[in-house]
Amino acid sequence: MALFGDAPFATPKPERLVKRVLEIASDPGDLVLDSFAGSGTTGAVAHKMGRRWIMVEHGAHCHSHIVPRMRRVVDGSDAGGVSGELCWQGGGGFQLFELGPSLLEKDAHGRHVVSSRLASAELVEAVCRQFGFTPEPQGRDPWRHGSSSERQFIHVAPRMLFREDLLPLSEALDPDATLLVACLAHDTDAGNFPNLDIRKIPRDLPDAIDWAKDDYSLALALT
Ligand SMILES: C[S@@+](CC[C@H](N)C(=O)[O-])C[C@H]1O[C@@H](n2cnc3c(N)ncnc32)[C@H](O)[C@@H]1O
Repeated sequence: MALFGDAPFATPKPERLVKRVLEIASDPGDLVLDSFAGSGTTGAVAHKMGRRWIMVEHGAHCHSHIVPRMRRVVDGSDAGGVSGELCWQGGGGFQLFELGPSLLEKDAHGRHVVSSRLASAELVEAVCRQFGFTPEPQGRDPWRHGSSSERQFIHVAPRMLFREDLLPLSEALDPDATLLVACLAHDTDAGNFPNLDIRKIPRDLPDAIDWAKDDYSLALALT
């Protein structure tokens, strides 16, 4: 308790209690997760006990309490808690990562869909080529992302599609045209739309593309 005169929440756990839990439930080198880190006791004790650790915290006390605390653990100036009985003198290091923007956003119907950032020209082009279509960045129609002949087109939708998404696509086509619809998933029988060929975008395709232009990591490089 003496560690934080202004503890960020009412129930910080004593280091000895967390040490007992980690002795029972883990071995040196194991990975300990505390997804509600609070004041960071779990990580501090895990670190001193030779465990690897991941802490998750969305409060501002991540910066005001946890990071300074872990710095003291790493540089050996934290003499409190279980430091004495473990003869802790410092060592190791950690990295701080900040969560990037969500990959999900709500569409006009309030449904969670993959963010429009992922529907970038890069993904559309990659999916077109994956299915053997030539991308048409300036397509004649907004739904038309590529073609493989005068009558065969592709539409790329990196999200789950519902009947109300597919119906207008089906109706937009000329009678002898077909449309390959590449999506992450769909909740309707593909046979309902004879002029649509509904396929799933291979899961590893979005993963293979370097979406994030920003680096959200901050390497503290403490040793
Ligand atoms: C009771 S404290 C954690 C106590 C700590 N694990 C311990 O054993 O001493 C709960 C913490 O979880 C954090 N928290 C709550 N919801 C969260 C979320 N969705 N993501 C990250 N942190 C969250 C709160 O800000 C608070 O600091």
